[in-house]
Amino acid sequence: MFELSEELTLVRDTARDFAEHELIPRATKHDREAHIEPEVLAKIGELGFWGLTIPEQFGGAGLGNLALSIVLEELNRGCAATGVTVSVHNSLLCSPINKWGTEEQKQTWLPKLASGECLGAYALTEPGSGSDAAAMVTRATKDGDSYVINGTKIWVTTGSMAGLVLVYVRTNPDVPKAKGISAFLVPAGTPGMKVGKKEMKCGIRGSPAVELEFDGCRVPAKNMLGQLDRGFPIAMDTLDGGRIGIAAQSVGIAQACLEEAIKYAKVRVQFGKPIAHFQAIQHKIADMQTKIDAARMLVHKAAWLRDANEPCGRQAAEAKLFASQTANFCADECLQIHGGAGYTDHFIAERLFRDARITEIYEGATDIQRLVIARAVLA
Ligand code: CAA
Repeated sequence: MFELSEELTLVRDTARDFAEHELIPRATKHDREAHIEPEVLAKIGELGFWGLTIPEQFGGAGLGNLALSIVLEELNRGCAATGVTVSVHNSLLCSPINKWGTEEQKQTWLPKLASGECLGAYALTEPGSGSDAAAMVTRATKDGDSYVINGTKIWVTTGSMAGLVLVYVRTNPDVPKAKGISAFLVPAGTPGMKVGKKEMKCGIRGSPAVELEFDGCRVPAKNMLGQLDRGFPIAMDTLDGGRIGIAAQSVGIAQACLEEAIKYAKVRVQFGKPIAHFQAIQHKIADMQTKIDAARMLVHKAAWLRDANEPCGRQAAEAKLFASQTANFCADECLQIHGGAGYTDHFIAERLFRDARITEIYEGATDIQRLVIARAVLA
């Protein structure tokens, strides 16, 4: 756990090199233009990062969640908008297809997802169901060999770029709310599924978060992932993996904040010396480094458990809770160390500050992580 294997070291170094040369130089542009450059998405495909956790027989790298976390940390250190796109694709779409998909679903989708020919999204949240995910009202009704979906999903990360969306819908309104939900694979371009409003966000602006509107959207019954009315546990288990991804993203953002803070503290001279010589600054750096080390260990532990097929819901929530708080702590301290300059676009501290904020919100807000942890501990 404390020393990476040769294989994981190679994977990390490849991701780090890509982040240094391709992401860091573009991250500000991605933020300002609210867009990820297509050549970045293509390069991610060449490196095999879209299919990291997809088995080799379907064209993936056949690696696990630990490898994914390590890659996500590096990518997010470079550009959090790109990083979340890779995280959502791998953990919220490829992973549940691999786990619950029929042979036909796997054959149809995993090779395209592994190459990046098709990007993935996950549609759970609705205007009336955020933290209370099971309160969703988007409805699918059976009609012959198909289901017809009506309703609206919001905050669909990558929704406007995705070739395939995993959509959670209510298939049975007459049972307790979490018991009547099913999951469907809906390809982009299916008549009746329309990309709606794109949100203008505070951070990770290169990653689109859109509304998806379903109006008589007909999907074949064979596109159901898992069993009828058993979609909610799939959504929750999938989020256990996704939360490890967002925790890894948080560590990457925190690491970028630490590096920016150190760089600035070494050159900014006040009272006759670089501010890095002052104990007040040194304490901030020490706290940032310590929290990052602890967060990274929580992420690796949760990923390792998931790879071992052990229950990891609590550990994933702990990793996300602590790592996202660490990202925000480090972003705040990084900006503070930069002083007024950090509050402008002369430095990337302000973008990191904005990017960090979402990590405490998406894939389960901080308070939901506490709820998951407390329920597990008290059970
Ligand atoms: N794994 C497998 N099954 C699970 C599970 C898990 N981790 N957690 C719960 N379940 C199962 C339960 O066993 C139960 O199954 P049965 O029906 O068989 O009994 C069922 O799911 C219902 O569980 P709960 O009673 O715990 O459900 P709840 O309504 O109390 O909700 C919650 C629990 C933790 C609050 C959940 O609603 C939740 O996680 N909310 C946050 C939603 C969230 O994270 N949204 C993120 C949106 S996606 C996103 O953000 C993507 C992006 O943009 C990047």
